[in-house]
Amino acid sequence: MNSETIIINKQTWDEEAERFFGRNPLPEYGPLAPTEEDIKLFNHIQGKKVLDIGCGSGHSLLYMHNKGADELWGLDLSKTQIHTAEKVLSNCPSVQLFEAPMEANPGLPENYFDIAYSIYAIGWTTNLQQTIMNIHSYLISGGAFIFSWEHPLYNRVKQAGTELLFQHSYHEEGFYDH
Ligand SMILES: C[S@@+](CC[C@H](N)C(=O)[O-])C[C@H]1O[C@@H](n2cnc3c(N)ncnc32)[C@H](O)[C@@H]1O
Repeated sequence: MNSETIIINKQTWDEEAERFFGRNPLPEYGPLAPTEEDIKLFNHIQGKKVLDIGCGSGHSLLYMHNKGADELWGLDLSKTQIHTAEKVLSNCPSVQLFEAPMEANPGLPENYFDIAYSIYAIGWTTNLQQTIMNIHSYLISGGAFIFSWEHPLYNRVKQAGTELLFQHSYHEEGFYDH
């Protein structure tokens, strides 16, 4: 886990949280992405224990509640996002929220969840391998992990009038300042 980066990211997400209130949550998968209604990746949400990685303002968990999920669990790096999610989910029973980085287990039960998902959040991890290993440990055998992230072109191309301009190489990977 890259602690210095996580501290900077946490502060930034606290500052930016308001801009992301209910922005592209389920049934959307993020900006310019198809929706759950189009691609139907989740079947049988009813009665399931679900975990949202990077739950933001809680709107995707609210979607899960409205689809009949039994237990709603979420984690997010940002204190502001967790406070907002608490309010958004205040009428839902069985909600457990953690203010924590996805790179570490903040006390989530292992071998417990039917479904883990992450909507437009997992790309901000500083340690993808550890994050995926954590998520695997939370799931029951045969559980599902569904995630979305932006297409690599999304932040490489800028619209300038009627033209689309490449600002960065399509092939560049790794960390960058945002
Ligand atoms: C674009 S928002 C998506 C929110 C939410 N998934 C939704 O569907 O509305 C990205 C979220 O990821 C969270 N995040 C960023 N880095 C994180 C990390 N390392 N661990 C946990 N959450 C993180 C941010 O605080 C933010 O709430």
